Amino acid sequence: MCGLLHRNVSTRGLVVLASGNGSNFEAIVKASNEGLLNAEIAQLIVDRDCHAIERARKLSVPCRKLNESWRSDLETLLDEISPSLVVLAGFLRILPKRIVKKWRWKILNIHPSLLPAFPGMHAIRKAYEHGVKVTGITIHFVDEGVDTGPIILQKAIEVDPAWSLSELEERIHKLEHYWYSRTIEVILNGGWHIEGRRVFIEKDTRQLV
Ligand code: GAR
Repeated sequence: MCGLLHRNVSTRGLVVLASGNGSNFEAIVKASNEGLLNAEIAQLIVDRDCHAIERARKLSVPCRKLNESWRSDLETLLDEISPSLVVLAGFLRILPKRIVKKWRWKILNIHPSLLPAFPGMHAIRKAYEHGVKVTGITIHFVDEGVDTGPIILQKAIEVDPAWSLSELEERIHKLEHYWYSRTIEVILNGGWHIEGRRVFIEKDTRQLV
């Protein structure tokens, strides 16, 4: 099933990139289906066999799996689809600089910590094991680094030391699923700009988030 041709998109089309469970991908598709997000999910792109593929099948979203030549294939696919935004949702590869440059300010990522704390893999576990009292999520533009791009939105939660790791994970994922589609909507709507590392969102638009 993962191999369907993408849909042709004109405006407000999204490409989602994932490598794992795909729960954020599913939350975005559902937000779109429910009218909370005014966008069409044109294509899921994965880089390996993963649960996200099964979710795409159930949600009738075209899915493509990248192979060894993933860098050039991804670039070609994005050129063909020409989405409004590229949305990383647990994509476990570092995008080639060429793609980042070509799609500057059009690639979003979500990370399960308050960056710049705990970048990279296993952020929730690292924060938990560190004994943090506050953690959360970050949604940011992708630049050439790993989890380093200008921050669009952060949401924090206080950590009860009695929580298990899975309780913390559950709360973090809930935040992600709520805020990612809303942030995508804000970015698609325009009314924001970047000065240096600072992302400014106009007042009216900010009310959405
Ligand atoms: C999410 O928690 C996301 O924040 C994280 O991968 C998970 C994917 O879950 N991303 C990163 O750590 C990026 N550095 P999902 O496959 O269920 O959406």
